[in-house]
Amino acid sequence: MDDHELYALIGEDGFTRLIQAFYRQVPSDDILGPMYPSEDLAGAEQRLRDFLIGRFGGPPRYIEQRGHPRLRMRHAPFPIDPAARDRWLALMGRALEDTQLPPDADAMLRDFFVGVATMMINRQG
Ligand code: HEM
Repeated sequence: MDDHELYALIGEDGFTRLIQAFYRQVPSDDILGPMYPSEDLAGAEQRLRDFLIGRFGGPPRYIEQRGHPRLRMRHAPFPIDPAARDRWLALMGRALEDTQLPPDADAMLRDFFVGVATMMINRQG
């Protein structure tokens, strides 16, 4: 499957359920909870969902609203060490289990998340 076919496979609903399942876990997480804006978690949820939808073949809402993603630069304010990366991936792994996407979609997203999350590391623990 090509990256850009993922949106056709899981649709708006697949991304929405996945990202909801991720953010549900964030507030009570001891590493990630303090990094995310507690007053704007709904906004954070929308930004990650729209980014993924655009990246995987859906409507380009993220770029229209936020411009070029520049993810490393946008993550620079947050202290992301290997433990924070591992925790982010653990929460997303749980979200993927909860969401039960088709196996191809699950595998493609897991690979993508590992690669991007590793690029976001901006300090050592
Ligand atoms: C490595 C661990 C990571 C940590 C600790 C982390 C943390 C954060 C935090 C605290 C925010 C701000 C929330 C907001 O107000 O939008 C954010 C934004 C964002 N993150 Fe991450 N993130 C991580 C990995 C990733 C990965 C792997 C992706 C993509 C697959 C990603 C995509 C985004 C996007 C698209 C935004 C919104 C940027 C914007 O438009 O301002 N992040 N992240």
